[in-house]
Amino acid sequence: MIHILVLGAAAGGGFPQWNSNDAVAHRARAGDPDTPLRTQSSLAVSADGKNWVLLNASPDLRQQINQRRQLQPDPNAPLRASPIAAVVLTNADVDHVAGLLNLRESQAFAIYGHARVLDVLAGNSIFNVLNPDFVARRPMPMDGVLALKDGRDAPLGLSVRAFPVPGKVALWLEDGNAPDFGTAEGDTLGLEIRDEDGTSFFYIPACARMTPDLAARLRGAALVFFDGTLWRDDEMIRAGVGTKTGRRMGHMSCDGEEGTIAAFAALGVQRKIFIHINNTNPLFVAHSPERGRAEAAGWQIADDGMEICL
Ligand code: MLT
Ligand code: MN
Repeated sequence: MIHILVLGAAAGGGFPQWNSNDAVAHRARAGDPDTPLRTQSSLAVSADGKNWVLLNASPDLRQQINQRRQLQPDPNAPLRASPIAAVVLTNADVDHVAGLLNLRESQAFAIYGHARVLDVLAGNSIFNVLNPDFVARRPMPMDGVLALKDGRDAPLGLSVRAFPVPGKVALWLEDGNAPDFGTAEGDTLGLEIRDEDGTSFFYIPACARMTPDLAARLRGAALVFFDGTLWRDDEMIRAGVGTKTGRRMGHMSCDGEEGTIAAFAALGVQRKIFIHINNTNPLFVAHSPERGRAEAAGWQIADDGMEICL
């Protein structure tokens, strides 16, 4: 069995973002039940319900731990302890790696990522707060099955298969003079997490395009969490809050002919959940027409606090 906790459903900035000053942000801050606050996207997964693997470490991780008894130290454990055994990174986005800084100092755990992402962490000395005597950094092979282990090499009963998906190098690493901002294969990964009985699901919080390879991989899957950043490609421009399209940011949009809902329509995925949802996306508003359309197409919207046993 795989236990899954949705720690956060929102894209970078969270919902509402700190400087959002639109009507929906005001409703959210006022506690409107149709627009609950959401932290930045991350999942926690476990085979035994005791040892947990984070899929990305969001800047809101400290708050997420305080909201989740499963991620808090067992009262019978030593005076410094954590059930967080490993973190698997899908890219180097600030909303996926900044939370590592909360896991500071001398607690053993393992970090898994593409070699390019691990190189970024190694090249930035602020991540030295993760004491290398305790925190193992392990590169993931592409498209190979890797058994996940804690910081002391004990198996966790889960494996990961990481694979590149179309995307873009992290915003803070963009090279304006290089083609495609310096993006290379491996900068954006999808993950398939599997338990020892063969149950598995996919976590793909960023993806720029559905390819035939990706479609074949996802066909018939039991569960897929997928990039729900924008509802439509130009929504930030239309709302007057930004100049970038979803395409420019490396995200396919939910709606439209080349959008995610259309791309999944014939894939036979049993359970489809949008995650990494931007503060401008009307999916965050219960009863919005867009939410209705996504739900009619068989999609769920991830919510902080959602728990799934697969
Ligand atoms: C993204 O998902 O495109 C990035 O997290 C954007 C950002 O860093 O703000
Ligand atoms: Mn992001």
